[in-house]
Amino acid sequence: MSLNRRNFLQTAAVLGLTAAVPVSGRLMAAGRSFHPLPIPPLLEGELRDGKKHFRLEARTGQREFLPGLVTPTIGFNGDYLGPTLRMKRGDEVAIEVVNRLPETTTVHWHGMILPARMDGGPHQPIAPGESWNSQYLVRQPAATLFYHAHTHGQTGPQVYRGLAGLLYIDDEEAAALDLPSDYGIDDIPLVLQDRDFDSGGRFRYLSFMPERMIGKHGRTLLVNGVTSPRLQAQTTLLRLRLVNASNARFYRLAFSDGRSFRVIASDGGLLPRAVSRKELVMAPAERYEILVDLSDRRELSLLDLGRVGNAAHGPMGMMGMASGFDVLRIDAGSARKSDRKPVQRLAELPLVDDAVGDLQQRSLVLQMGMMGGGMMGGSGKSMGGGMMRRGMMGGPGGMMRGGGMGGMMRINGKSFDMQRVDFRVPANREEIWVLGNDSPMSHPFHVHNTQFRLLTRNGKAVPAVEDGYKDTVVVQPGEELRIWLPTGPYVDERHPYMFHCHILEHEDGGMMGQFTVV
Ligand code: C2O
Ligand code: CU
Ligand code: CU
Repeated sequence: MSLNRRNFLQTAAVLGLTAAVPVSGRLMAAGRSFHPLPIPPLLEGELRDGKKHFRLEARTGQREFLPGLVTPTIGFNGDYLGPTLRMKRGDEVAIEVVNRLPETTTVHWHGMILPARMDGGPHQPIAPGESWNSQYLVRQPAATLFYHAHTHGQTGPQVYRGLAGLLYIDDEEAAALDLPSDYGIDDIPLVLQDRDFDSGGRFRYLSFMPERMIGKHGRTLLVNGVTSPRLQAQTTLLRLRLVNASNARFYRLAFSDGRSFRVIASDGGLLPRAVSRKELVMAPAERYEILVDLSDRRELSLLDLGRVGNAAHGPMGMMGMASGFDVLRIDAGSARKSDRKPVQRLAELPLVDDAVGDLQQRSLVLQMGMMGGGMMGGSGKSMGGGMMRRGMMGGPGGMMRGGGMGGMMRINGKSFDMQRVDFRVPANREEIWVLGNDSPMSHPFHVHNTQFRLLTRNGKAVPAVEDGYKDTVVVQPGEELRIWLPTGPYVDERHPYMFHCHILEHEDGGMMGQFTVV
């Protein structure tokens, strides 16, 4: 649940961090009272002139996440997060995004294959009071995607304050399978986000120096925007759409009684077949859909077992930053018996392999630290305390001088530059991208405008849950991943697509590049 405050302060004192740690009286705030799991409103679009029209309005608001405390927030069409946009493969969609915030924002359709000027990345800013129209053809299989702010240098704080929502794609192949698909009834979205609050209830963002480096980790878990949610299951077979919309936290999900569940989809859609698992690790921006059988009608919880990802090591690990959460209480006592049969074969995916010699290869190495890998270089498995003391605490000569990450976060030696296109790829091709990680942290690497396939991890075959369409994949320190990546049909010499680490503080800090399709 929450970390132990006394241990936290003792460890912090030992590390000399006392001045820097957030002081909050609400570390145990989640308590034992539950909130009914809210389901984001569903927007299915309005058909006009052959297009499905949607409207999102980014606005300021406030919400009581913690009892008696009001948190200023931002959200789409509401105070925090946004509606679920539901589209069908083959739809022409037109989404009007109105910015009622006092700051510039953007909205990116994460996982969507679409023209670069419709992508909503840092090159499509929407000034306060302005609106932006994004129109595209939905041409990919059924999947759980999401949308979020992607403002230059401000993605982390804007998503943290609430600018994200879900985007579902349906198609006939998926509808023909006997899967739970009644939105909010037996097909349940679960948006996982960790947050910190100050004593007045305001979101606390990057108040603690190592968070800039490791990424923002909060000690309160929000699911669909509430703490401690409880779901009254209506049927004994549930489909949970798990979305890690956190800035930096990895989760290790399992049920409280250790029961197995079936994983049916990953980022880009259905897996070839259902995969039975007892645990699932999710990095930021990854999505999984699972089926869980509740026919024994026992009460159970979905848990985050913690101890995974970047906060599990070093001082943050010692401070309990990776100690795990209760994610969702599920009460199946009055659930109606589901008569769906277990589906095994789900989707026909093309066979992809590495054996083809004539695919263009590109190598991208993720890096942190000074030039050439220097002090942060190497492939250590954990964040050493030495590194933390030397570099991250902002002492004289420390990396934090000047506020930003100043060239710390790089890909192939370069920090992100809006003016620089890193490479051009030909349209309608397949390429092999080789991903490396010359840093001591794990990075969820994401590419816009594509759904790729992971071929090998360090030369070895990939686990079945990673053997589907993905747009985000974890690269651990020292690993080499090979991915097969279709470049898509949209040629545009002027507007680039992004590729980046989806730890949002790394993205904002410059671990991002851009390419055009020509
Ligand atoms: Cu989900 Cu470039 O982002
Ligand atoms: Cu994206
Ligand atoms: Cu990263």
